[in-house]
Amino acid sequence: MELKEKVHAAFEQRFGTDGAFYASAGRINLIGEHTDYNGGFVFPGAIDKVILAEIKPNGTDTVRLVSVDFDNAYCEFGLREEDAPAPSWARYVFGVCREILKRGGHVHGFDAAFAGNVPNGAGLSSSAALESCFAFALNDLFNDNNIDKFELAKIGQSTEHNYCGVNCGIMDQFASVFGKKGHLMRLDCRSLEHEYFPFNPQGYSLVLVDSRVKHELADSPYNKRRASCERVAARLGLETLRDATQEALNAIKGEITAEDYLRAKFVIEEKERVLAVCDALVAGDYDTVGRKMYETHAGLSKDYEVSCEELDFLNDVARECGVTGSRIMGGGFGGCTINLVKDELRDQFVKTAIARFAERYGHEPKIYDVVISDGARAL
Ligand code: GLA
Repeated sequence: MELKEKVHAAFEQRFGTDGAFYASAGRINLIGEHTDYNGGFVFPGAIDKVILAEIKPNGTDTVRLVSVDFDNAYCEFGLREEDAPAPSWARYVFGVCREILKRGGHVHGFDAAFAGNVPNGAGLSSSAALESCFAFALNDLFNDNNIDKFELAKIGQSTEHNYCGVNCGIMDQFASVFGKKGHLMRLDCRSLEHEYFPFNPQGYSLVLVDSRVKHELADSPYNKRRASCERVAARLGLETLRDATQEALNAIKGEITAEDYLRAKFVIEEKERVLAVCDALVAGDYDTVGRKMYETHAGLSKDYEVSCEELDFLNDVARECGVTGSRIMGGGFGGCTINLVKDELRDQFVKTAIARFAERYGHEPKIYDVVISDGARAL
C-alpha cells in the first residue's frame, strides 16, 4: 500500500474522519559533517524518502497521535510542559508543539496519524523529517503560515535539544524544510545564508550503502564531540571553530587534550573541504569532489572518531571498486556511506559491496539510489 493510503487507513480507523496531508523529507549530505554546530558550512539535499502525516484539529486541548509504523501505537497528551508523553516517537511531536508555543505561536488539540519510508538509524534524519513535517503542518493549521522557514527548522532543532537529548546542529532540519528537487544547498550555519546548487552530475550517481548497524553508545558520543569543539573554541577565545585556523590550534596544542586537538583539527579541515567541493561541483570536476569525500571519511574515522569497523570496511570496498568518492554520512556510529559512482561502475560496485559485506558481517547492507527531492510540503 502507498504511504498515503496506509496513513489514511489508520487515521480513518481511529478518528472516523478525513484530515489534511503533509510530508517532509529525510536528507543526504554531500560533504560538511559535524560542521553545523561549529558555525561552518554544510552541503545537504532533501531526498525522496519522507515522513507523511494526516492531521485534523479536534477542537480540544489534547493531541491524539497514531504511529502507523509502530503497529498503530496510540498516544495522547496535553500541551503543557508537564504533559510530556513517555514514548520517544511521541516526544518529537510534543516537542514541536511546545517549541511553537514557547515562541508565542498557536497550537491546539489535533488528531494525527503518521508513517514514513525514511529508514530508521541509517543516518538519513528520519527524526528531522518527523519534526519538520509537524512544524510545517502546525504552522499551516494554526498559525496562518506566519512562522518563517528558518524558525520551523529551529523548532525541530530545539525539539532535539530540549525533548530528545541530542545537541544537534541545524543541518538536518534545514535540509528537511528547505529541500528543493534536483538541488543541493550550501548553508553557512553561522549567517544562515544559503544557496541552491543544481545537482545533476553527468555520468555519475549517488548511492547510499546502509550498513544497518547502529552503535548506540551509552555516553552520548555526539554531545561529547560537540563539547570538545566548544572547549577548544573557548580556549581560542572564539564563539565557534568557524574562525579557528590550524596555526592557532597548533599554538595551544600543549594546553588541550590530544583528543580535543584531533576533533578541532578535523573541523578546521572539513570547513575548507565544503567550499572546495562546491567549487569543484560547479566546474564539473568530480574527481576533486570524490577525493574530498575520501578525505572526509579518513578524518571522521581517525580524528573525529565517529566511524566504526563496518563503515571503514565499506569505504575500503568502495575504493577497491574504483568508486570516485565515498564516506560515512551523518552523525556517525553506524548508518550509511554515501558514494559518488561512475554510472558504468555502479552495478558492479553494488554487487561487490553487498557480497563482501554479507560475507564479513553476516547480513546484507541495503542500497538506496539518491533522488534529490522537495522538503516540507502540504500534499
Ligand atoms: C547529525 C546532526 C546534525 C549534524 C550531523 C553531522 O545528523 O543532527 O546536526 O551535526 O549529525 O554532520
